[in-house]
Amino acid sequence: MKFTSTLVAAAGLLASPALAAPYAQLQTRNTTSSSSTVEQPVLNVTYTSPVNSSLPNVVIFATGGTIAGSSASNTDTTKYTAGVVGIEALVQAVPNILNVTNVVGSQVANTGSVNINSTIILRMAKLANGILCAENSTTDGLVITHGTDTLEETAFFMDMTVNCKSPVVVVGAMRPSTAISADGPANLLEAVTVAVSPAARNRGAMIVLNDRIGQATYTSKTNANSLDTFQAIEQGYIGGFLSNKPFFYYPASQPTFKNKFDVTNITELPQVDVLISYQNFDAALIPAAVKAGAKGIVIGGTGAGSTTDVAQPYIEAALAAGIPIVLSSKTNGGAVPPSGSGAISSGFLNPVKSRLQLQLALATGMGMEEIRGLFEDKLAGYLEA
Ligand code: SIN
Repeated sequence: MKFTSTLVAAAGLLASPALAAPYAQLQTRNTTSSSSTVEQPVLNVTYTSPVNSSLPNVVIFATGGTIAGSSASNTDTTKYTAGVVGIEALVQAVPNILNVTNVVGSQVANTGSVNINSTIILRMAKLANGILCAENSTTDGLVITHGTDTLEETAFFMDMTVNCKSPVVVVGAMRPSTAISADGPANLLEAVTVAVSPAARNRGAMIVLNDRIGQATYTSKTNANSLDTFQAIEQGYIGGFLSNKPFFYYPASQPTFKNKFDVTNITELPQVDVLISYQNFDAALIPAAVKAGAKGIVIGGTGAGSTTDVAQPYIEAALAAGIPIVLSSKTNGGAVPPSGSGAISSGFLNPVKSRLQLQLALATGMGMEEIRGLFEDKLAGYLEA
């Protein structure tokens, strides 16, 4: 698919006085929603590359993080400021990108990823559906630049909520842009290359760092410092790169237990808190969280979702009050098998991913037993077969 080469003006909305056609198309798409009375967000375009009509088209949402980080020292990889460099500078640091694709960019945020919140990810999911999934979309793929600390959360959210075959690629960096051997430029080039690759279609959201491609539902940050931090320990990578050419180990497929949600009519995500269990776990934090506004709670349990005996009455009281409690595993690996009653089991979702799925379940109006079915039924079906 190609952006048309017509130039249009978009007075007042962009720094650039004359914009390529993609902007007009994107804005039209995002303001029109036949199925919903909820107002959909409009893309605030902050960067457009020159248009080469022989190239595919990518949209980049820039959110900050180390990939946009800056330090006074080129050896400093820990004490730098994340989310400083804007999208234009990010793209211009890698001129090769413009040999691969046209780019329309939006600076959605510019912050450390710890500050990326429910409002921002919901907005990005809505924009992504408007841009990628509309009939006659001229956008081949979406790239989100993101801090690595919560990158897996945004990627998983997009995996559950972008409802078409176009690729969503979430990319970050472990070294700030000012570091010797900064990894951001190569990661960004690889991310846009994947995003416009026909082989990347129908694989859901992906995470690209360090020459590897991971599926978002399975991939997590596993190390605070190293470049090879993003891994899916059990499931492995789905692909990688050779000389910047993406390759996939298998034909397109989706995670077995993935659930999909339509965010069109969701206006906010409810508060869901995560508590970690340990020896002496003080489960009095459960009613404290509910008092502070939590509509659901995930417990990162020990092992396969175990918690202290002291926690049980608090869990039962919360369930009786209609607050779903999901038991996940703080090991971040393996599964918490279906329980059928009591607290809801997370299956293969780690605590932060369980939280996002529970937020979406609550936001779409699911009740306790529906939520249990969402988390437990597919795995239960496998175990009973
Ligand atoms: C952040 O997550 O924003 C900081 C850390 C990083 O991007 O690697």
